Amino acid sequence: MFYLGENWSSLVSDVVSVGPDLSEKDLVQQLGAFSQNFTVLEVGSYFGYTTRLLSHLFKRVIALDAIPELLQANREYNMDRDNILYLRFHTGNHDWSIFSMNTIHVVFLDASHDFESVMQDIDNCLRIPTVSLIIFDDYGAEEGVRLAVERFVAAKRLQPVALLGEGENGPWKLRDGREVKDREAIACEVLRP
Ligand SMILES: C[S@@+](CC[C@H](N)C(=O)[O-])C[C@H]1O[C@@H](n2cnc3c(N)ncnc32)[C@H](O)[C@@H]1O
Repeated sequence: MFYLGENWSSLVSDVVSVGPDLSEKDLVQQLGAFSQNFTVLEVGSYFGYTTRLLSHLFKRVIALDAIPELLQANREYNMDRDNILYLRFHTGNHDWSIFSMNTIHVVFLDASHDFESVMQDIDNCLRIPTVSLIIFDDYGAEEGVRLAVERFVAAKRLQPVALLGEGENGPWKLRDGREVKDREAIACEVLRP
């Protein structure tokens, strides 16, 4: 079983806003002391809300996005953080082998959410030899994410270790009013053959 520790609140007490996605509390509770020496790859970093939180939890963050204007906005939002590398990268068009030259422990996957893209992204993440945990945002809200994760779990390439975010107390609602019954996000351990 993958170790998920507790008690990170003092380390991240200066994180004031984590944006619209996963709450600080959830990531802090689930990642525990595990992350402080590790590198996380954030796939799909948008305006940098989660990038900011990750930069407090991890030693290094590689934040990638296909859209350079978003990377620029992320950089400005996180100007005071010195452990973030910004990379323009499209998961379907660019070469993932560049990541294998680095030691990346955790992936926070939050880019395209259609089934085919997520399948391909997971496959590419698993090819990075040092990755041991993948966190899937929008697991509950996006069927493509859920089905792709289920496929890899069934193939014994991923093992769910924690459910995160909204939904702890039953179905929850998106801003558009849609009800979601599954938890917002899931963390899976990578199983190596
Ligand atoms: C849901 S947002 C990410 C939110 C961010 N992780 C957060 O929590 O604040 C999705 C992001 O993924 C990017 N994206 C979508 N498809 C992508 C792809 N194939 N390659 C790289 N980035 C992609 C989008 O530009 C967008 O910024």
